[in-house]
Amino acid sequence: MNNKKVVLVTGASSGFGQLSVQLLAQKGYLVFGTSRKEHSASSGVEMLVLDVQSDSSVQSCVKQILAQTNRIDVLVNNAGQIHASMIEETSLEQAKNVFETNFWGVVRVTNAVLPIMRQQRSGHIINVSSVGGLIGAPGQGFYSASKFALEGYSEALSVELDPFNIKISLIEPGYFKTNFNSAMLQPSITYPDYDTVRDVIRSSIQNAIAQGDDPEKVARMIAFVAQSQSPRLRYRVGYEAQWLPRLKAILPDHLFRLGARKRLNLP
Ligand SMILES: NC(=O)c1ccc[n+]([C@@H]2O[C@H](COP(=O)([O-])OP(=O)(O)OC[C@H]3O[C@@H](n4cnc5c(N)ncnc54)[C@H](OP(=O)(O)O)[C@@H]3O)[C@@H](O)[C@H]2O)c1
Repeated sequence: MNNKKVVLVTGASSGFGQLSVQLLAQKGYLVFGTSRKEHSASSGVEMLVLDVQSDSSVQSCVKQILAQTNRIDVLVNNAGQIHASMIEETSLEQAKNVFETNFWGVVRVTNAVLPIMRQQRSGHIINVSSVGGLIGAPGQGFYSASKFALEGYSEALSVELDPFNIKISLIEPGYFKTNFNSAMLQPSITYPDYDTVRDVIRSSIQNAIAQGDDPEKVARMIAFVAQSQSPRLRYRVGYEAQWLPRLKAILPDHLFRLGARKRLNLP
């Protein structure tokens, strides 16, 4: 019987997910990564198909793992999508789609894994949030809202799961250089009043990710948190995540907003 710890990482085809599955495999975990597309296994990582927006896809993915291992020790809810458009220019359908992946996707996978973790009386769920889950980011309003929802959900869940020895952690990265930019949505409606601000914000988000920090740092943090015997609820990674929430806590609202406008070069 294999006594390696079993870890499931969603969204492992690129970025943080891809780097962390490799690292976790090197550290001796039995690793399952996921993508919406088929990928062959590599460097000790088995890749499964999973769309976090689909109940049946989630059920089938978890079933495949349990059929092989009968346990899941660590779940990393990493799959996520960016959304960059002004709030008023975002259709309700687009906004709901962001939540379907970033929030309900996490809930779906967590619900599928929790019965086995409760039965084991052990487990660790690591949810990849964002500095956008701590600060309402202009031009990414619904992305931010989905990560704020994830923060509240994780905080509540951590208390509910204490009696079962199941830990919850949140990873809160700033901007990191991944493929995140490539999935940016287009606005569904455009209003001329937003023309200048929209373009400035969009290019500022694109630049922030393109010139972002090394994503290996986030992968190392995920691996560190997965191995921790007494993990904390929150871990911030990267410059923006370290400083922006602190500034928000100490500055009066109007000064923080002024600083945000200046940083984004907003008129
Ligand atoms: N990069 C940053 O600056 C940054 C900052 C803060 C937080 N984050 C968070 O970090 C996480 C990973 O992002 P990343 O930067 O590594 O982005 P990425 O390179 O674009 O990777 C995103 C991953 O999510 C998967 N995914 C997207 N929609 C999915 C769905 N419906 N079902 C299943 N998988 C889905 C993608 O897989 P397939 O397309 O192959 O299915 C891909 O593997 C996200 O939760 C994001 O919000 C990123």
